[in-house]
Amino acid sequence: MPGAIYAEGLVKTFGDVRALDGVDLDVPEGTVLGLLGPNGAGKTTTVRCLTTLLRPDSGKAVVAGLDVLRHPNEVRRSIGLSGQFAAVDEYLTGRENLQMVGQLYQMKAKEAKVRADELLEQFNLADAADRTAKTYSGGMRRRLDLAAALVVSPPVMFMDEPTTGLDPRNRQQLWEVIKQLVSGGTTLLLTTQYLEEADHLAHDIAVVDHGRVIARGTSDQLKARTGGERVEVVVHDREHIPTAAEVLAGFGKGDTSIEDHTRMLTVPVTGGAKLLAEVIRELDARGIEIDDIGLRRPTLDDVFLSLTGHVAEVKDEEPGAAAGAAAKDRRHKKETAK
Ligand SMILES: Nc1ncnc2c1ncn2[C@@H]1O[C@H](COP(=O)(O)OP(=O)(O)OP(=O)(O)O)[C@@H](O)[C@H]1O
Ligand SMILES: [Mg+2]
Repeated sequence: MPGAIYAEGLVKTFGDVRALDGVDLDVPEGTVLGLLGPNGAGKTTTVRCLTTLLRPDSGKAVVAGLDVLRHPNEVRRSIGLSGQFAAVDEYLTGRENLQMVGQLYQMKAKEAKVRADELLEQFNLADAADRTAKTYSGGMRRRLDLAAALVVSPPVMFMDEPTTGLDPRNRQQLWEVIKQLVSGGTTLLLTTQYLEEADHLAHDIAVVDHGRVIARGTSDQLKARTGGERVEVVVHDREHIPTAAEVLAGFGKGDTSIEDHTRMLTVPVTGGAKLLAEVIRELDARGIEIDDIGLRRPTLDDVFLSLTGHVAEVKDEEPGAAAGAAAKDRRHKKETAK
């Protein structure tokens, strides 16, 4: 039996662009799937196909037990959607926006009002409830849009980057709302650029790149697959980054990634504490002062970087750095390999 959200071989092209190139998904009822992927990977297109906003060229999609292509109207009645770009009516107040959604779903006026008040409270919008949405900040609009998606509690929800633009407190609060929803039995497909969010909320993760699912599993499974430990070093002087990168390359089992603004270098290794001691000795011998060094397990960020190869992007800012040149070279190889 397919799950609450099921897709098989979804293909969608826009002219020359093959936005979806055979997407397969299966989300069991009452669980959260985190859809991750770099910009342009096909996340929004997948959401749009599954929510009837876009017709795929081929493939199959079933949502809440309904064939999306054959029964779009019924599907629409069974789902909630919060899109990547907030869709609120600028000329209505926050309260009116929510009441309007309730009435579109055939709630009685009184019921819609009670629900709107609850949501305004839950999303920290009570103080601004009677101002028109055009006076709202970006984060407020986003919260209003999310609240609108939750007016009725549909069995299946789609959220496309729900917490983009939210401050940390509002993001945490939204996570709580999402957890409550899911504990009440809702199935959720969520896209996000915040891997911590996927780690926190998603039962399963699917990584999409170039319109295909390139990896899937629980966060732990994906981390285990990425393998090994990481040595993470923060050097004291920015000028020492290239030399430190050279040292790490000698010990690493993969590419070194560099975060220039934090002066942090990370490389996958095997060998544990003994190797760490050797790295410290070598850095010391080269006269590199370090602010911090340690061993850590891979994070979901490491998984993402190793799967999608987008490790190179940060480094363009430092063309002089040896690792930067290496990263460019690597990316060049990747591109020419296509
Ligand atoms: N309406 C459209 N017309 C033409 N091309 C489109 C259209 N919608 C999406 N695309 C293209 O399809 C590809 C996938 O886009 P999509 O919006 O699904 O990516 P995404 O994974 O959501 O990216 P992001 O992280 O930037 O939101 C991109 O190359 C995009 O330019
Ligand atoms: Mg998108």
